[in-house]
Amino acid sequence: MEQTRAPVTFNRHLTGDYWLLEVEAPQIAGALRPGEFVNILVDDRPAPYLRRPFSVYRVSADRRRLQVAYKIVGEGTRLMTQTIPTGGYCDVLGPLGHGFSLPDEARRIAVVGRGIGVAALPTLVDEAARRGIEVHGFLSARTRDNLVAEDIFAEYGFPVVTQTDEQEPGALVTTPLATLSKTMKFDAFYVCGSNRLARVVHQIAAAQQVPAEIAMEQDMACGFGDCHGCVIEVNTEGNETAWREVCHYGPVFNTWEVLHA
Ligand SMILES: Cc1cc2nc3c(=O)[nH]c(=O)nc-3n(C[C@H](O)[C@H](O)[C@H](O)COP(=O)(O)OP(=O)(O)OC[C@H]3O[C@@H](n4cnc5c(N)ncnc54)[C@H](O)[C@@H]3O)c2cc1C
Ligand code: FES
Repeated sequence: MEQTRAPVTFNRHLTGDYWLLEVEAPQIAGALRPGEFVNILVDDRPAPYLRRPFSVYRVSADRRRLQVAYKIVGEGTRLMTQTIPTGGYCDVLGPLGHGFSLPDEARRIAVVGRGIGVAALPTLVDEAARRGIEVHGFLSARTRDNLVAEDIFAEYGFPVVTQTDEQEPGALVTTPLATLSKTMKFDAFYVCGSNRLARVVHQIAAAQQVPAEIAMEQDMACGFGDCHGCVIEVNTEGNETAWREVCHYGPVFNTWEVLHA
């Protein structure tokens, strides 16, 4: 884990409510694995005091720069658009947490994301592509302009299904996945951004008897297991439940660990 005052390559509007921040942080970008995250200091002033956690959206090919796609939801993210200027500096802590695991024998995986959760997937897609694994994407958002990362699947020629609430109110992007999984075998499933979608993914994975992982989001303070402020109740192997820090044990968990805990 490194804390660095990273030069900001750019911090600009991406699409809809999203902004894209890129910083030069070779120690963090070089060590980062898919699904891990960084904790960003919003401002040097006392408020907002707590850092804000973000998935790393992408890492540059030379592994010197990393990107964060962030949605403006409250005071911290609103301030980030103003206090982290292109050409300035950004205080970044990372890489943090435990990310996704890609089974050695995996040849085809499905990734499902909704809203902000989609931002955790591109580093997994990049790693899968590097290992010659075929990725099927299922992305959903409230509106078309809040749908991110579709272009990253297109970069590799991976198929991607999208769904927005404005086009199909009440539809679930897991419905086409459920249909496809009747005829296509996947080696692992990954889901972020919606417990409703995670429950469906968990069932599909169980029917195929393959693992499913979920990237969890939780309010965080330290981001590295010290303050115990981000605990959730999880199922354990021994059929009991336990409290686990999302920042340290996660943010990626097996779906069986967190669903119905
Ligand atoms: C592992 C992980 C990865 C994430 N990845 C992404 C991502 O890639 N993209 C993205 O857009 N979002 C991501 N998020 C969500 C993101 O962290 C939140 O949207 C962000 O923190 C919102 O900050 P805010 O200040 O704008 O919102 P707010 O709702 O104002 O604040 C967010 C949190 O900050 C803390 N906080 C704020 N004010 C106070 C206070 N006065 N006292 C105490 N605590 C306070 C609380 O924990 C609060 O819930 C991720 C979250 C996690 C846990
Ligand atoms: S944020 Fe401090 S323990 Fe997780």
